[in-house]
Amino acid sequence: MNTRNDVVIMTGEGMLALWSGLKSCLAPGDRVLSLVTGVFGDGIGDMAASLGCEVRKVTFAFNETIHEMDRVEAAVREFRPHMITAVHCETPSGTLNPIEGLGDLKRQYGVPLLYVDAVASLGGPPWIWTPGAWTCCWADPRNAFPRRRA
Ligand SMILES: Cc1ncc(COP(=O)(O)O)c(C=O)c1O
Repeated sequence: MNTRNDVVIMTGEGMLALWSGLKSCLAPGDRVLSLVTGVFGDGIGDMAASLGCEVRKVTFAFNETIHEMDRVEAAVREFRPHMITAVHCETPSGTLNPIEGLGDLKRQYGVPLLYVDAVASLGGPPWIWTPGAWTCCWADPRNAFPRRRA
């Protein structure tokens, strides 16, 4: 994973880790900026809303990746979120989002938490960490790590 931070191993499906992260890090009323490029990104915003958070979504077409960073930056500046959420690989769309730029925004605007769903991607595509910029990242090694065939 190329991190010096502690890694928590949970036994369960990917959703267990996604819910655990939201429930552990958020309180009702916290502002969450949800970046949506597909089904999972949209769902994470809804999950945060169901916990009583104030959620704002920045939505792109489901066949696009996060771009127009000025739109994202404007939302961060105005909304001042406690957490930004994004998905690294939007599995149903088959797209890979550029997470590095979000780390830069997080640092620039002092956003406390950046939450990244990497359930489908950790161990697959090149993994780019921005030191100090990623706060929580959820991954499921069953998805992208090479599996041995029987
Ligand atoms: C991007 C992404 N997030 C979350 C999940 C949910 O994982 P699980 O089905 O193991 O709960 C999946 C499952 O495919 C996924 O692709």
